Amino acid sequence: MSTRTPIIIPVITVDGPSGCGKGTLSVFLAKQLGWHLLDSGALYRALSLAAKSHSVELDNYSALEVLGTYLDIRFEFDETSHKIHAVLEGQDVTQELRTESCGSDASKIAAIPGVRKALFERQRAFLELPGLIADGRDMGTVIFPEAQLKIFLEADPAIRAKRRFNQLQEMGVNANLDDLFLEISQRDRRDRERLVSPLVPAEGAIIIDSSNLTIDEVVSQGMLLVSRVFPDLMANLKTKSGWLERI
Ligand code: DC
Repeated sequence: MSTRTPIIIPVITVDGPSGCGKGTLSVFLAKQLGWHLLDSGALYRALSLAAKSHSVELDNYSALEVLGTYLDIRFEFDETSHKIHAVLEGQDVTQELRTESCGSDASKIAAIPGVRKALFERQRAFLELPGLIADGRDMGTVIFPEAQLKIFLEADPAIRAKRRFNQLQEMGVNANLDDLFLEISQRDRRDRERLVSPLVPAEGAIIIDSSNLTIDEVVSQGMLLVSRVFPDLMANLKTKSGWLERI
């Protein structure tokens, strides 16, 4: 009788509210380690766009559940721009996916238990060798509770609103700081207070408050944690950047 050792695929979860830097940290870690990346928020965002294009109301739970089960979304790496593009039902929706209204709709449908259930296996399917960085709200608590490293990023809502404001200004998009603050606060409340998979730090998660940190400092702290949990990986890094000198 042969005894096979099960393959353990390493996973790092990065959870937290919007605008705390988790997206940037996750992309950085995935690039450095050469691992896969799951941007779970993009799935909820894509589902909200699909609902709109199929004229499904956000309170039509059963239709949203079906739409979630059959969601036709692909994430393609564009060799020219070196960016990941989101393709929903054959249409490039990368830009649309990042709007405030899409984030707000995503947060509303994400509170529906059947929708979360419909997207569960799809998220688990991202777990492939050599490893996965999973970015979201419930990555460490529900989707990948077995993760070897769980990071939870926090930041003051006023600071997150200001960061988003600056980002939109750089993109040439008009925005109002008060509106952004209100939107962020509402979305936080919805994500933290919902009954299923609320935004809370997983047991054993390392909490990083990025309120007064630069993105470089967040990345340095993230890499320091990775080096402690996965010391063997550090020898095989894709590129060496400034964080090493600062540790
Ligand atoms: O991370 P994001 O801003 O792209 O996510 C958009 C919304 O999707 C967020 O407000 C809540 C929801 N979401 C979720 O409920 N669970 C996740 N794992 C990821 C996102």
